[in-house]
Amino acid sequence: MEERILVIGSSGQIGTELVEELRKLYGNKNVISSDIRDPQIAQDGPFERLDILNKLQLLDIVEKYNIKEVYLLAAMLSATAEKNPALGWDLNMNSLFNVLNLAKDKIINKIFWPSSIAVFGPTTPQQNTPQYTIMEPTTVYGISKQTGERWCEYYHKQFGVDVRSIRYPGLIGYKSKPGGGTTDYAVDIFHQAIEQRSYECFLSENTTLPMMYMSDAIKATISIMDAKDSDIKIRSSYNIAGMSFSPSEIASEIKKSIPNFEISYKIDYRQEIAESWPQSIDDKNASNDWKWSADFNLSKLTDIMLENLKESITSKKNH
Ligand code: NAD
Ligand code: SER
Repeated sequence: MEERILVIGSSGQIGTELVEELRKLYGNKNVISSDIRDPQIAQDGPFERLDILNKLQLLDIVEKYNIKEVYLLAAMLSATAEKNPALGWDLNMNSLFNVLNLAKDKIINKIFWPSSIAVFGPTTPQQNTPQYTIMEPTTVYGISKQTGERWCEYYHKQFGVDVRSIRYPGLIGYKSKPGGGTTDYAVDIFHQAIEQRSYECFLSENTTLPMMYMSDAIKATISIMDAKDSDIKIRSSYNIAGMSFSPSEIASEIKKSIPNFEISYKIDYRQEIAESWPQSIDDKNASNDWKWSADFNLSKLTDIMLENLKESITSKKNH
């Protein structure tokens, strides 16, 4: 049987777009999407309901489709995990062990597992944060990602597991909704700008964070998985950078297209999370090792988001 790819957590913000792109590259039937909930948009290809914490169910699906490559996207993100620390830890760690162990046992060959800028903490240098630096995360999510990175490197060193990882910044796209992160405001703001002409932001106006347009994130994911094994020199996780902005800067950019757009601020517990993270990222290791570079800046991102969301919101209203 042909070797196939499994995407776990495929109904989420990243999975929705990653599955679409992988299917373009490898064919619909060769990319199996899976999640505990239905896809956000209609998909053309096999979908399996899978709880990643159920090892037997995972093994069944892996054997049924002859899966050799896994993209593990199921996780609880920063804001939600702060509200459910034990569940967040259980999901984020045991999902990773379940997949790493399949590779250790030589059942699958290759794994993509995303880390995050949340691995950094308040003692990390915030500007141009280096690949190797102080890492003292203060959120459950950040601790789980940092621990996950250590386990990925360990499985690579001890058992030869081919696991590849990226520390995604906050991701912004128009095709799917985000799932409980601190950076979600940067997606919600576009929806509200079009629908309400106003947005109440839960982060303060000058809170700068590293962000990235979704198609850059998908490009990075596919590039690192395609890279030669010998080019992947870091087996914990690579820094990658797109752009950095604050709520007031994105609001100004939106105002260029929607002049009567207004932003207001009502800060909540997510402010403290955001303040513990870097403001900008140094990604030269990824550029040197597997030729990473981003294509999108804030003004390009804003144009694409507004144009596409306007279209989809108008067509929903007309139906
Ligand atoms: P998301 O919350 O949008 O999607 C996660 C998906 O996992 C959801 O569809 C959810 O139903 C599914 N899921 C939850 N529990 C599951 C289980 N037990 N079994 C199977 N599926 C389950 O998250 P996302 O934004 O798509 O993030 C994907 C990965 O990328 C995560 O590891 C996240 O930490 C990482 N990441 C995301 C961002 C971002 O800005 N979106 C930034 C950094 C890192
Ligand atoms: N966007 C993610 C979050 O806010 C960062 O990993 O949780």
